[in-house]
Amino acid sequence: MDALTALTTRVSPAALDAPGPSGDALQKILEAAVAAPDHGRMRPWRFILIEGMAREKFGTMLAEALTRREPTAPAGKLEAERKKALRAPLIVIVAASVQSNAKVPEVEQLVAVGAAAQNMLVAAYALGFGGFWRTGAIAYDPAMKRALGLAETDAIIGFLYLGTIKTPGQPRQNDTASVTRRWRG
Ligand SMILES: Cc1cc2nc3c(=O)[nH]c(=O)nc-3n(C[C@H](O)[C@H](O)[C@H](O)COP(=O)(O)O)c2cc1C
Repeated sequence: MDALTALTTRVSPAALDAPGPSGDALQKILEAAVAAPDHGRMRPWRFILIEGMAREKFGTMLAEALTRREPTAPAGKLEAERKKALRAPLIVIVAASVQSNAKVPEVEQLVAVGAAAQNMLVAAYALGFGGFWRTGAIAYDPAMKRALGLAETDAIIGFLYLGTIKTPGQPRQNDTASVTRRWRG
């Protein structure tokens, strides 16, 4: 698929299935990620891959995080939270390791990692896979960061769920006119 088609037709699939990207495809997706614009070449991105049985453990962590937020959450809600980890064969946690830098403010490092995440989604799509980006309260949970081996100062930019498209997402109108204007001074 050519780059423009991938960029303009990618949407989040409604459901994913196995197999997920692996081997060469996964390597290409990671290389696309680290090709994102990066002020100062600081390489602020970190990627944590969760596959196979590790997803079950991640699901347990999701349920535990929900219990911390909602101690009286009913069993059904906890089970639904646990199952979120099984929505895709591969979860890529995209994190930012933000460093203090006189020329590159924190926001620019976070945006660079966001660009890396988008590159991953588009690269996965161009290779015939689907993916969707999630955050939610768990992205900001210090215990979750610790369990993933991240520092408290690291930021989780997204959980990317990647796999084979089982149910495609809704195509959308890419409206540019309402959000674009020319400035002429
Ligand atoms: C930083 C970021 C975090 C997001 N977190 C969530 C989320 O937690 N839950 C959700 O339903 N969508 C989330 N989204 C939006 C979806 O990934 C998706 O972009 C949106 O549903 C629009 O669908 P599309 O990708 O088909 O355009 C997030 C998007 C971004 C950029």
